[in-house]
Amino acid sequence: MNRRRFLGLGASVFGAGALAAVAVPSAARLLAEGRPGRLLSSELDLPPAFQVPLPVPPVLEPYSSDETADYYEIVEQVAKLEILPGVRTEAWTYGGSYPGPTVVARSGRAAVVKHRNLLPVPTVVHLHGGHTPADSDGYPVDLLLPVGSTGGGDMAGMPGMPGMAHRAAGRSVTGERTHTYPGRQRAATLWYHDHRMGFTGPGVWRGLAGFHLVHDDEEAALPLPYGDRDLPLMLADRSFAADGSFRYPATDPTLAAPGVTDDYANGVLGDVILVNGAPWPRLDVDWARYRLRLLNASNARAYRLELDPQPSGGDALVQIGSDGGLLEAPVTHDALEIAPAERFDVVVDFSRYEPGTSVRLLNRFGSDRTAEVMRFDVSSRRVTDDATVPEELSTIERLDPDAAVTTRQFAFRRSRGDGWTINGRPYEPGHDIARPALGRTELWRFSSDLHHPVHVHLNQFQVLTRDGRAPGPYDAGWKDTVDLRPAEVVEVLVRFTDYAGTYMLHCHNLEHEDMAMMADFVVE
Ligand code: C2O
Ligand code: CU
Ligand code: CU
Repeated sequence: MNRRRFLGLGASVFGAGALAAVAVPSAARLLAEGRPGRLLSSELDLPPAFQVPLPVPPVLEPYSSDETADYYEIVEQVAKLEILPGVRTEAWTYGGSYPGPTVVARSGRAAVVKHRNLLPVPTVVHLHGGHTPADSDGYPVDLLLPVGSTGGGDMAGMPGMPGMAHRAAGRSVTGERTHTYPGRQRAATLWYHDHRMGFTGPGVWRGLAGFHLVHDDEEAALPLPYGDRDLPLMLADRSFAADGSFRYPATDPTLAAPGVTDDYANGVLGDVILVNGAPWPRLDVDWARYRLRLLNASNARAYRLELDPQPSGGDALVQIGSDGGLLEAPVTHDALEIAPAERFDVVVDFSRYEPGTSVRLLNRFGSDRTAEVMRFDVSSRRVTDDATVPEELSTIERLDPDAAVTTRQFAFRRSRGDGWTINGRPYEPGHDIARPALGRTELWRFSSDLHHPVHVHLNQFQVLTRDGRAPGPYDAGWKDTVDLRPAEVVEVLVRFTDYAGTYMLHCHNLEHEDMAMMADFVVE
């Protein structure tokens, strides 16, 4: 099977001639609409908002610990979940829940996570934002084949099996794979998710995502909200079929071939907004400060988050952290734009509201039902709260543009005949697009045709310029995902450290990623 066949980008989706029929909106229309993607409607009645209590994903207990590491096991399994009240949804899960269990790790200690695959499909798990050796990073053809499969002839008919050539480029194993995350990184909100070549979109859509938090002493010494007032919030949009299953516009419903139908090539948007796997949930909050670790785990949807009502004086969202952990100093926002895979760590002070106020979290990029996210109901009882947000949070070493030894250009665009590409090439495992040297600062210049949330593995980067000007309001701190707007150029400084090997650079719109907007780079 050749690459084209495998990627499902033949005549059916992006073949020459067929392209004109592909419903990828023009840049002008996207600008008008603000954001890419196309709404896929659910086929059943949607529940009213703010009925379901906000779930918090379970914290995963290590099955053993020693002086340097904690050892975890996650069983990847099919589970029937009640996501919409009274409706059963079959999900692909980490450990039986969606989101999967939260791994709570400590900087300086290794988290060793064994995954066991009981799903009907191969998987690849990636720790997003992890500073991870290449063999544990989740290279998209390093397949974890289901327990009991031989990896040989019987795999040929398995949904989503790449051809021999691509399998040869990876290190596939059967049943179990152990990922070692050494923890040589600062406190940050990370997440893990499926990363299988060509199938990340449907895999994540069906439930393969969870939090991985890293704590450290620096953060623990700050008087920030903690415990029950430190909440991970995974935002994701989904659609449901009449039978309660997740609805997804795969070209091939059996998922034997990757890709989505032409109309959805620019991204799949659901009409149900989930927070930690619950539709438009509500949460009782104390009259106090909360730390909200916002993660956009949607395939293609970006959000513009705003509290309603705003507390008097505005600046409701006090950002303390980004993808790569604490900022140097807090940055206040009235609204927060969050593209797929980005994380924003914010403190909200609910004592700025009258006790008893209901505060909605809105999505100003949405409309109708997708314009609402969740609701916080502020307790009518005053409590004491000793948490604060200090003026100084951390120190960040600024990467120096004058020290950049190499400048590289990466153009993210739709290419005639080849789908979504980087520098004109669709993804091909084993073909690297750059060979940065360990420990050297580089300047990477990303350019776009349409919206692309660009993600780099291994190390976080710093945004240097956006559109020839200073970084934007959401670009502060260490980032691993940066949202490129249509026809925009974003320059970042990056320095890869500790681990040589093959890593990925890709668009985190998962439909773009699956349809080949990804590339290898080799750190040497
Ligand atoms: Cu969150 Cu390479 O992915
Ligand atoms: Cu990643
Ligand atoms: Cu993209």
